[in-house]
Amino acid sequence: AARKLFVGHEVDFLKGVVGMDGLPPDDRAEVCFAGRSNVGKSSLINALTGRKGLARASNTPGRTQEINYFTLGADHYLVDLPGYGFANAPVDVVARWQALLKSYLSGRVSLRRAFVLIDFRHGIKPVDDEIMTLLDRSAVTFQAVLTKADKVKDKDKDRILAQVRQGLSKHPAAYPEIVLTSSEKGDGIATLRAIIAGLS
Ligand code: GTP
Ligand code: MG
Repeated sequence: AARKLFVGHEVDFLKGVVGMDGLPPDDRAEVCFAGRSNVGKSSLINALTGRKGLARASNTPGRTQEINYFTLGADHYLVDLPGYGFANAPVDVVARWQALLKSYLSGRVSLRRAFVLIDFRHGIKPVDDEIMTLLDRSAVTFQAVLTKADKVKDKDKDRILAQVRQGLSKHPAAYPEIVLTSSEKGDGIATLRAIIAGLS
């Protein structure tokens, strides 16, 4: 099922949403990709779908400023979220994204799982912890996805993984399995596809 779900032609950009009233009907299972600005959310969606230019990835933090919906097959949505913890934009703009992000994460009934992306080099930061607490309170199961594994030295991996495990253990909504990924090299992509395909 995982392979079928991710066949390229079955994936499409649907719309960018700037307010809760713009969300599509909640009649499909959806998963979202949350995380600090620049952590690799858009790149991961591109790697999962095998479509390089689908979600706009960029070196400029704050690239994704809307909630972007992608249809996956007939029954799923993939949702690319604006990054959090990015201050280098007008204050009112940042405040508006953050409010939207929080409303979405706490109020979307068809959200089956939130993937919280964490840069493998940096581990869990205080802003990640805040989002995880919001997800706990909203009873949204979330799963940690470590990104940019290709940039981490083998000797550092166990230490950072231990920090992440420790951080997750405080969150009742955290799914215990951590997914290690590299959108660049393809690590973990098949695993994540299978996880998404298993959610309905
Ligand atoms: P915002 O939309 O600004 O919140 O960022 P984002 O989380 O969508 O990050 P994006 O996918 O745009 O990637 C940010 C930068 O990290 C880009 O320059 C990517 O090429 C790079 N990047 C993403 N994933 C990986 C990875 O697995 N390995 C490496 N080496 N670089 C990556
Ligand atoms: Mg993005």
